[in-house]
Amino acid sequence: MTGPTANIEGKLATIIPSLREGLREDAVRPRKGRVRQVTGFVIHATVDEVRLGEICELVDPKTGRRSKAEVVGLTDEAAVLVPLGDVAGLSSLTEVIPTGRDLQVPVGPGLLGRVISALGEPLDGRPLPQAEINGSYPVNAYPPSPLARTLISEPIQLGIRALDGLLTCARGQRIGIFGEPGVGKSILLSDIVSGTDADVAVVALVGERGREVREFVERQLVQQGKSRAVVVVATSDRPAIERVKAAYVATTIAEYFRDQGKHVLLAMDNITRFARAQREIGLASGEPPTRRGFPSSLFAALPRLLERSGPGRIGSITGLYSVLMEGDGTMDPVAEEIQALLDGHVFLSNELAQRNHFPAIDVLRSRSRLMDAVVSHQHRTHAGRIRELLGRYADIELLLRIGEYEKGSDAVADEAAAKIGRINDFLRQPSATHETMHKTEERMREIVDEGS
Ligand SMILES: Nc1ncnc2c1ncn2[C@@H]1O[C@H](COP(=O)(O)OP(=O)(O)OP(=O)(O)O)[C@@H](O)[C@H]1O
Ligand SMILES: [Mg+2]
Repeated sequence: MTGPTANIEGKLATIIPSLREGLREDAVRPRKGRVRQVTGFVIHATVDEVRLGEICELVDPKTGRRSKAEVVGLTDEAAVLVPLGDVAGLSSLTEVIPTGRDLQVPVGPGLLGRVISALGEPLDGRPLPQAEINGSYPVNAYPPSPLARTLISEPIQLGIRALDGLLTCARGQRIGIFGEPGVGKSILLSDIVSGTDADVAVVALVGERGREVREFVERQLVQQGKSRAVVVVATSDRPAIERVKAAYVATTIAEYFRDQGKHVLLAMDNITRFARAQREIGLASGEPPTRRGFPSSLFAALPRLLERSGPGRIGSITGLYSVLMEGDGTMDPVAEEIQALLDGHVFLSNELAQRNHFPAIDVLRSRSRLMDAVVSHQHRTHAGRIRELLGRYADIELLLRIGEYEKGSDAVADEAAAKIGRINDFLRQPSATHETMHKTEERMREIVDEGS
C-alpha cells in the first residue's frame, strides 16, 4: 500500500493502543464526585451512579483525610450521604468516591469475648485475630425466606424463673422487654445473657451511657472468663448512623453464628434508641415526619431488622429487644409497632420495682405467644395454675389489705392467699443468679402440689 491510505493506517496504528490504554484507565478510575452541601450531619454530593446503601470514600485532596459515608437518599441532582464517623474536617473540596460495596462486618469465632464498634472495629485496643476471622458479612442483608426456616419446636433457657416458668420462650422466638426508664431492663438482659443455654450471645448496646457499657462488659466479658458473648457498642454520644448500624451489625454477627448451626441469643438494649437515631437521620435527610415525628422509613426498617432474627435453615437467633416505654405505652407508635411485630412481650412494672420486687416482670400483662408449642403438658398445666392464682390474688389483694376478705367463700382465692408468698419467692430472683429450666419446673410443681 502506498499514498494517503498507508499514511492514515500508520497513524491509526499509533493512536489505537493509546486510545485503548485511555479507555482501560477510565474504566478503573473511580467515578469521583464532589461535596456540594453539608447541613448538620447530612452531605449532599454530586456523584454519578451510586446505589442506596453504597459506601463512598470521602477524600480531602489537600489534607489527604479519608473517611466513609453511606448513601441514604437520592434527589434530582444529588446523592444524600451520612458520614460513618465525624464530619469535622469536611470541605467543599472533599471528593466523593463510590466504592461499589455496601457496609460489611468481619465475622468469625475471633469475635467471641470482644467489644466492637458499629463499624466492626475492635474497641478494646487489640486487633481482631485474623486467623479466627472467616471473611465478612453484608450488614444490610435480607431476612431468610419464611419457607427456608425450620419450625420452632424447642424451648430456650433464659435462666430467669419468671420467664422460663411462666413465659417460656422458644429457640428462634422474638420478644420485646417493655419498661419505663430505670425499671430494670438492662439488668434483666444482662442476667439473661449469663443464664441462657444459648451457644452464643450477641449483645447490641445502642445509645447507652458509657458507664453502663463499662459495667456490662466488665460483668459479661471479663468476669466470665472464656466468653461466648460478643458486644457491639454505639454509646449515646456517637453519631446517629452508628447507633443505627450497631443494631444491624449485631444482627449480622448473630446471622454468622446461626449459619454455623449455633443457637444464638441476640439481646438489643434498646430498640427505642435505634428508632430515635433512625428518625434523626430520616428528618435530616429531608423525609417528611409521620406518626409522632417518626419518618415512614422507620416503619419499613423495623420489620426488616426484626425479621432477621428467628430460626434459620440451621441454627436459630432468639431475639430479645428492650423497648423504652413512656407511661403505659399506648400512645407510643414505636412501642406499639414493635409489640405487633414480635412473638411475645414482657412488661416490666414500675410498681413492682418500687416494691423492690425484681425482676419487675408483670406476669399477668406479659405473653409468650409460642410457649404452648414448646413446653410439656405438665409445665403448661402448672404455669396455667400459677397464673390463675396470681390473677385471683390481684382481685382480692385490696380486700385482704383492709381486712375485708372472708376466707372460705372461694377455694381458688383461699389458695391464692395462702400461696402468694411462695409464688413471689419463686418470681423474685436476685440479679446475677440463674436457675436451670429443670429446677424452675420442679419449683413450679412444688408450688402447685403443695397442700393438695
Ligand atoms: N434484679 C434486680 N435486683 C435488684 N435491683 C435491681 C434489679 N434490676 C434492676 N434493679 C434496680 O433498678 C435500677 C435500674 O436498672 P436498669 O439500669 O437495668 O434499668 P433500665 O430499665 O435499663 O433503665 P434505663 O431505661 O435508664 O436504661 C438498678 O440500678 C437497680 O437499682
Ligand atoms: Mg438500661
